[in-house]
Amino acid sequence: MTAHASKGLTGRMRAPGDKSISHRALMFGALALGETRIEGLLTGEDVLATGAALRALGAEVERRDDGTWRVQGVGVGGFSEPANVLDMGNSGTSARLMTGLLASHAFTSFVTGDASLRSRPMQRVITPLSRMGASFTNRDGGRLPMAVTGSKTPLPIEYVLPMASAQVKSAILLAGLNTPGETTVIEPHPTRDHTERMLRSFGGEVKVREIEGGGRAATVRGYPDLRGQQIVVPGDPSSAAFAAVAASIVPDSDIVIENVGLNPLRAGLYTTLREMGADLDYQNRREVGGEPVADIRVRSAPLLGIEVPPERAPTMIDEYPILAVAAACGRGPTRMLGIGELRAKESDRVASVVAGLQACGVQIRATADEMVVEGCDGAPPGGGTVVTHLDHRIAMSFLVLGLASRTAVTIDDASPIDTSFPDFAAMMRALGAELVAS
Ligand code: S3P
Repeated sequence: MTAHASKGLTGRMRAPGDKSISHRALMFGALALGETRIEGLLTGEDVLATGAALRALGAEVERRDDGTWRVQGVGVGGFSEPANVLDMGNSGTSARLMTGLLASHAFTSFVTGDASLRSRPMQRVITPLSRMGASFTNRDGGRLPMAVTGSKTPLPIEYVLPMASAQVKSAILLAGLNTPGETTVIEPHPTRDHTERMLRSFGGEVKVREIEGGGRAATVRGYPDLRGQQIVVPGDPSSAAFAAVAASIVPDSDIVIENVGLNPLRAGLYTTLREMGADLDYQNRREVGGEPVADIRVRSAPLLGIEVPPERAPTMIDEYPILAVAAACGRGPTRMLGIGELRAKESDRVASVVAGLQACGVQIRATADEMVVEGCDGAPPGGGTVVTHLDHRIAMSFLVLGLASRTAVTIDDASPIDTSFPDFAAMMRALGAELVAS
């Protein structure tokens, strides 16, 4: 697909359902007794992979004609041995959270994924879940495919997260639901808390304690009585980010992105864009499904390079590629600190961003956990072909770069976009973006 320099983007778009919350809505629906109805579920491939895995474990998961989803749960501890390998596709959230669920069910499952997911680290869940009593047979380096044998007699643990990861936290808390006693995860740097929020809304007990130095401890009690719920999934701030940056950097743009989830542990990009001088106006603030939401009006504005502090990283961990694109159009350098976790995403995002920006004539330097982008103070040269490495956010970020560049930008593979934002091209075109399939 190729993105050409576009005239101002205008109009309204509705952010697609939040990916993180969609996975959890299906999982808690499957763990609850009775029926769960879900409105606004993201129908990207990642979430469909979670749905298929839950079906293979015995839950009923179906899309209804009106676009809502129905899940008939089996109750905590009620999963049964899947008859085939669980293929999580491209989805790290499916692989890690489902592994947590499997760890406290006494049968063996086989988990795999696509080439990207098979290269990503699973040791980070294997270590704590082994302590709870699960056993694993995996490829070298803690990679998929792996066999997970859940424990018959799981043990509650208290675990200090060695890296800021909501997936690892959630895997342990989900394992803790079918485990006696209290399971606690201590996070030195708080990450997205959708698991904790949704567990509460299904009737589970979660204690959250602030700890010294800004960290948090989350504790769940085993064997909760979860009941089916009506869930409304808010829009995804990580998907909305592409349109927000596009409207900021394509001159003469004026758009409204409706239904953007603004959980404080997800909204770091919007804070950062405002610090850079972006013109964002939050309208119609409200709550959807227990999460803060707003419509965001975005008008193009000159952006200034800034320093993004490391403590902000967990609140915008998926947004650095699109932030790097915004920075490429700004004035002066933008320094992004404490971003080492980017190297463990769908691709090594530091390497992917460096290669992509260099291919488009933008100066960038990187170390193990920092990137510095030299802004072009307006339209970057563009003209490159960018390799997306099965990474949806790299694909969408560089298409956005092309909309604001002097010469068109091509990505080698647009298919990964379907994992999180199947309507991306159609929605961007409706705003005036020149995206041409190739
Ligand atoms: C997610 C957590 C983050 C994020 C991912 C979704 C989640 O991953 O990058 O897109 O839903 O819990 P990590 O836990 O690896 O930081």
